Amino acid sequence: MPEITKFRRKVMSYWRRHGRHNLPWRKTQDPYKILVSEMMLQQTQVSRVIPKYEEFLKKFPTVQALAKAPLIEVLRVWSGLGYNRRAKFLHDAAKQVAERHDGHFPREYAELRALPGVGDYTAKAIQVFSLNESELLLETNIRTVYLHTFFSNTSKVSDRKLHPYVERAARGQNPRTWHWALMDYGAHLKKSGVKLNSKSAHYTKQSKFEGSLRQMRGAILRAHAKGDSLSSIKATNKQNFEKAFTSLVRDGLVPMSKGGAS
Ligand code: ADE
Repeated sequence: MPEITKFRRKVMSYWRRHGRHNLPWRKTQDPYKILVSEMMLQQTQVSRVIPKYEEFLKKFPTVQALAKAPLIEVLRVWSGLGYNRRAKFLHDAAKQVAERHDGHFPREYAELRALPGVGDYTAKAIQVFSLNESELLLETNIRTVYLHTFFSNTSKVSDRKLHPYVERAARGQNPRTWHWALMDYGAHLKKSGVKLNSKSAHYTKQSKFEGSLRQMRGAILRAHAKGDSLSSIKATNKQNFEKAFTSLVRDGLVPMSKGGAS
Protein backbone atom coordinates (compact mmCIF):
# COMPACT_ATOMS: atom_id res chain seq x y z
CA MET A 1 0.00 0.00 0.00
CA PRO A 2 2.40 2.69 -1.17
CA GLU A 3 -0.41 5.25 -1.13
CA ILE A 4 -0.66 5.13 2.68
CA THR A 5 2.09 7.69 3.23
CA LYS A 6 0.46 10.12 0.83
CA PHE A 7 -2.91 9.51 2.46
CA ARG A 8 -1.58 10.26 5.94
CA ARG A 9 0.03 13.43 4.71
CA LYS A 10 -3.19 14.60 3.13
CA VAL A 11 -5.27 13.94 6.27
CA MET A 12 -2.76 15.62 8.58
CA SER A 13 -2.30 18.60 6.31
CA TYR A 14 -6.09 19.11 6.22
CA TRP A 15 -6.16 18.87 10.01
CA ARG A 16 -3.42 21.42 10.53
CA ARG A 17 -5.11 23.96 8.31
CA HIS A 18 -8.80 23.33 8.90
CA GLY A 19 -9.18 20.99 11.90
CA ARG A 20 -11.89 21.74 14.47
CA HIS A 21 -9.34 22.60 17.14
CA ASN A 22 -11.81 24.31 19.44
CA LEU A 23 -14.36 21.59 20.07
CA PRO A 24 -14.80 21.67 23.87
CA TRP A 25 -14.46 17.89 24.35
CA ARG A 26 -11.09 18.04 22.64
CA LYS A 27 -9.74 20.21 25.43
CA THR A 28 -10.14 17.61 28.13
CA GLN A 29 -8.74 14.18 28.91
CA ASP A 30 -11.30 13.45 31.61
CA PRO A 31 -12.91 10.13 30.65
CA TYR A 32 -16.24 11.19 32.16
CA LYS A 33 -16.39 14.28 29.94
CA ILE A 34 -15.30 12.24 26.92
CA LEU A 35 -18.11 9.77 27.62
CA VAL A 36 -20.65 12.60 27.86
CA SER A 37 -19.49 14.00 24.51
CA GLU A 38 -19.49 10.64 22.74
CA MET A 39 -22.98 9.77 24.01
CA MET A 40 -24.27 13.15 22.82
CA LEU A 41 -22.52 12.91 19.46
CA GLN A 42 -24.18 9.60 18.58
CA GLN A 43 -26.83 10.62 16.04
CA THR A 44 -26.69 14.35 16.85
CA GLN A 45 -24.84 17.07 14.94
CA VAL A 46 -21.76 18.68 16.44
CA SER A 47 -23.27 22.20 16.33
CA ARG A 48 -26.26 21.06 18.39
CA VAL A 49 -24.11 19.13 20.83
CA ILE A 50 -21.72 21.98 21.76
CA PRO A 51 -24.14 24.09 23.88
CA LYS A 52 -25.75 21.02 25.46
CA TYR A 53 -22.36 19.59 26.36
CA GLU A 54 -21.43 22.83 28.13
CA GLU A 55 -24.77 23.04 29.92
CA PHE A 56 -24.67 19.38 30.96
CA LEU A 57 -21.19 19.64 32.47
CA LYS A 58 -22.03 22.84 34.27
CA LYS A 59 -24.91 21.04 35.93
CA PHE A 60 -23.14 17.69 36.40
CA PRO A 61 -19.40 18.48 36.49
CA THR A 62 -18.30 15.08 37.78
CA VAL A 63 -19.34 11.47 37.49
CA GLN A 64 -20.39 11.60 41.17
CA ALA A 65 -22.58 14.65 40.58
CA LEU A 66 -24.35 12.89 37.73
CA ALA A 67 -24.70 9.66 39.71
CA LYS A 68 -26.41 11.51 42.56
CA ALA A 69 -28.87 13.45 40.37
CA PRO A 70 -32.43 12.22 39.86
CA LEU A 71 -33.10 10.90 36.34
CA ILE A 72 -35.72 13.57 35.67
CA GLU A 73 -33.09 16.31 36.17
CA VAL A 74 -30.81 14.59 33.69
CA LEU A 75 -33.63 14.30 31.16
CA ARG A 76 -34.43 17.99 31.58
CA VAL A 77 -30.92 19.00 30.58
CA TRP A 78 -30.83 16.42 27.80
CA SER A 79 -34.11 17.70 26.38
CA GLY A 80 -33.74 18.76 22.74
CA LEU A 81 -30.96 16.30 21.90
CA GLY A 82 -33.37 13.45 21.15
CA TYR A 83 -32.77 9.73 21.54
CA ASN A 84 -33.35 10.05 25.27
CA ARG A 85 -32.34 6.50 26.08
CA ARG A 86 -28.80 7.81 25.79
CA ALA A 87 -29.42 10.08 28.78
CA LYS A 88 -30.66 7.16 30.85
CA PHE A 89 -27.66 5.03 29.80
CA LEU A 90 -25.30 7.85 30.72
CA HIS A 91 -26.97 8.27 34.09
CA ASP A 92 -26.84 4.50 34.74
CA ALA A 93 -23.19 4.41 33.65
CA ALA A 94 -22.35 7.20 36.11
CA LYS A 95 -24.12 5.32 38.92
CA GLN A 96 -22.17 2.18 38.04
CA VAL A 97 -18.83 4.04 38.10
CA ALA A 98 -19.73 5.62 41.43
CA GLU A 99 -20.86 2.33 43.00
CA ARG A 100 -18.57 -0.30 41.51
CA HIS A 101 -15.45 1.73 40.78
CA ASP A 102 -15.56 4.09 43.72
CA GLY A 103 -16.01 7.05 41.37
CA HIS A 104 -12.82 6.28 39.40
CA PHE A 105 -13.40 5.79 35.72
CA PRO A 106 -12.26 2.35 34.50
CA ARG A 107 -9.47 2.24 31.90
CA GLU A 108 -9.75 -1.35 30.69
CA TYR A 109 -11.75 -2.10 27.56
CA ALA A 110 -13.81 -4.88 29.19
CA GLU A 111 -14.76 -2.67 32.14
CA LEU A 112 -15.70 0.20 29.87
CA ARG A 113 -17.79 -2.11 27.68
CA ALA A 114 -19.64 -3.31 30.78
CA LEU A 115 -21.01 0.21 31.38
CA PRO A 116 -24.62 0.74 30.24
CA GLY A 117 -24.88 2.13 26.69
CA VAL A 118 -21.16 1.75 26.03
CA GLY A 119 -20.54 -0.27 22.88
CA ASP A 120 -17.34 -1.18 21.08
CA TYR A 121 -16.89 2.25 19.47
CA THR A 122 -17.55 4.27 22.65
CA ALA A 123 -15.25 2.13 24.81
CA LYS A 124 -12.44 2.58 22.29
CA ALA A 125 -13.19 6.30 21.87
CA ILE A 126 -12.64 6.75 25.62
CA GLN A 127 -9.36 4.85 25.39
CA VAL A 128 -8.19 6.93 22.44
CA PHE A 129 -9.35 10.42 23.44
CA SER A 130 -8.83 10.15 27.17
CA LEU A 131 -5.84 7.83 27.46
CA ASN A 132 -4.30 8.30 24.00
CA GLU A 133 -4.16 4.52 23.53
CA SER A 134 -3.69 3.17 20.03
CA GLU A 135 -7.12 1.66 19.43
CA LEU A 136 -8.72 1.87 15.99
CA LEU A 137 -11.94 3.84 15.72
CA LEU A 138 -14.39 3.41 12.92
CA GLU A 139 -17.46 5.65 12.86
CA THR A 140 -19.41 7.36 10.13
CA ASN A 141 -16.97 10.18 9.26
CA ILE A 142 -13.93 7.94 9.44
CA ARG A 143 -15.63 5.34 7.23
CA THR A 144 -16.29 8.06 4.68
CA VAL A 145 -12.57 8.88 4.57
CA TYR A 146 -11.48 5.28 3.91
CA LEU A 147 -14.27 4.55 1.43
CA HIS A 148 -13.58 7.73 -0.51
CA THR A 149 -9.82 7.20 -0.58
CA PHE A 150 -9.46 3.48 -1.14
CA PHE A 151 -12.82 2.15 -2.37
CA SER A 152 -14.26 4.85 -4.60
CA ASN A 153 -15.40 2.28 -7.20
CA THR A 154 -16.72 -0.42 -4.87
CA SER A 155 -20.05 -0.80 -3.11
CA LYS A 156 -21.17 -2.59 0.07
CA VAL A 157 -17.71 -2.52 1.60
CA SER A 158 -17.54 -4.25 4.98
CA ASP A 159 -15.53 -2.89 7.90
CA ARG A 160 -13.43 -6.05 7.66
CA LYS A 161 -12.27 -4.95 4.20
CA LEU A 162 -11.40 -1.49 5.50
CA HIS A 163 -9.47 -2.84 8.44
CA PRO A 164 -6.05 -3.42 6.80
CA TYR A 165 -6.04 0.21 5.58
CA VAL A 166 -7.25 1.53 8.94
CA GLU A 167 -4.59 -0.44 10.76
CA ARG A 168 -1.71 0.44 8.41
CA ALA A 169 -2.55 4.13 8.31
CA ALA A 170 -2.72 4.42 12.12
CA ARG A 171 0.70 2.85 12.70
CA GLY A 172 3.10 5.25 14.35
CA GLN A 173 0.53 8.06 14.54
CA ASN A 174 -0.48 9.85 17.71
CA PRO A 175 -3.81 8.08 18.33
CA ARG A 176 -5.69 11.10 19.66
CA THR A 177 -4.62 13.52 16.95
CA TRP A 178 -4.90 10.97 14.17
CA HIS A 179 -8.54 10.23 14.98
CA TRP A 180 -9.47 13.89 15.35
CA ALA A 181 -7.90 14.50 11.96
CA LEU A 182 -9.76 11.60 10.35
CA MET A 183 -13.09 12.73 11.79
CA ASP A 184 -12.59 16.29 10.58
CA TYR A 185 -11.43 15.26 7.14
CA GLY A 186 -14.47 12.94 6.86
CA ALA A 187 -16.84 15.71 7.96
CA HIS A 188 -15.23 17.95 5.34
CA LEU A 189 -15.67 15.34 2.59
CA LYS A 190 -19.34 14.98 3.48
CA LYS A 191 -19.85 18.74 3.47
CA SER A 192 -18.22 18.88 0.05
CA GLY A 193 -20.89 16.54 -1.25
CA VAL A 194 -19.15 13.17 -0.98
CA LYS A 195 -21.85 10.62 -0.21
CA LEU A 196 -20.16 7.35 0.34
CA ASN A 197 -21.78 5.86 3.37
CA SER A 198 -24.25 3.98 1.20
CA LYS A 199 -21.17 2.19 -0.12
CA SER A 200 -20.62 0.82 3.35
CA ALA A 201 -22.18 -2.50 4.28
CA HIS A 202 -22.77 -0.93 7.72
CA TYR A 203 -24.74 2.09 6.60
CA THR A 204 -28.21 2.64 8.04
CA LYS A 205 -30.36 5.54 7.01
CA GLN A 206 -32.05 7.60 9.71
CA SER A 207 -35.80 7.11 9.62
CA LYS A 208 -38.32 9.92 9.09
CA PHE A 209 -39.01 11.93 12.24
CA GLU A 210 -42.35 13.61 11.48
CA GLY A 211 -45.23 11.45 12.71
CA SER A 212 -42.85 8.84 14.09
CA LEU A 213 -42.86 7.06 17.42
CA ARG A 214 -39.58 8.84 18.16
CA GLN A 215 -41.33 12.20 17.83
CA MET A 216 -44.15 11.06 20.13
CA ARG A 217 -41.65 9.76 22.68
CA GLY A 218 -39.91 13.15 22.65
CA ALA A 219 -43.17 15.04 23.18
CA ILE A 220 -44.22 12.81 26.11
CA LEU A 221 -40.82 13.04 27.75
CA ARG A 222 -40.63 16.82 27.43
CA ALA A 223 -44.07 17.19 29.03
CA HIS A 224 -43.12 14.74 31.78
CA ALA A 225 -39.87 16.62 32.53
CA LYS A 226 -41.76 19.91 32.73
CA GLY A 227 -44.40 18.38 34.97
CA ASP A 228 -47.15 19.00 32.39
CA SER A 229 -50.19 16.83 31.85
CA LEU A 230 -49.98 14.31 29.03
CA SER A 231 -53.62 14.45 28.03
CA SER A 232 -53.28 16.94 25.18
CA ILE A 233 -50.49 14.88 23.62
CA LYS A 234 -52.56 11.75 24.00
CA ALA A 235 -55.42 13.44 22.16
CA THR A 236 -53.29 13.98 19.04
CA ASN A 237 -52.93 10.26 18.31
CA LYS A 238 -54.10 7.82 20.93
CA GLN A 239 -52.63 4.71 19.35
CA ASN A 240 -49.20 6.22 18.85
CA PHE A 241 -49.35 7.66 22.34
CA GLU A 242 -49.95 4.24 23.91
CA LYS A 243 -47.12 2.65 21.96
CA ALA A 244 -44.69 5.47 22.76
CA PHE A 245 -45.70 5.59 26.40
CA THR A 246 -45.28 1.83 26.85
CA SER A 247 -41.83 1.97 25.27
CA LEU A 248 -40.78 4.85 27.56
CA VAL A 249 -41.88 2.90 30.64
CA ARG A 250 -40.01 -0.15 29.36
CA ASP A 251 -36.86 1.95 28.89
CA GLY A 252 -37.22 3.29 32.43
CA LEU A 253 -37.63 6.89 31.22
CA VAL A 254 -41.08 7.59 32.68
CA PRO A 255 -42.85 5.92 35.59
CA MET A 256 -45.86 3.74 34.83
CA SER A 257 -47.96 5.92 37.16
CA LYS A 258 -47.77 8.82 34.68
CA GLY A 259 -49.92 6.73 32.32
CA GLY A 260 -53.41 6.97 30.88
CA ALA A 261 -55.27 9.43 33.10
CA SER A 262 -53.01 12.48 33.50
N1 ADE B 1 -14.14 14.45 18.66
C1 ADE B 1 -14.09 13.38 19.46
N2 ADE B 1 -15.11 12.52 19.23
C2 ADE B 1 -15.83 13.10 18.25
C3 ADE B 1 -16.99 12.72 17.57
N3 ADE B 1 -17.62 11.58 17.85
N4 ADE B 1 -17.44 13.54 16.60
C4 ADE B 1 -16.80 14.69 16.33
N5 ADE B 1 -15.70 15.08 16.93
C5 ADE B 1 -15.22 14.31 17.89
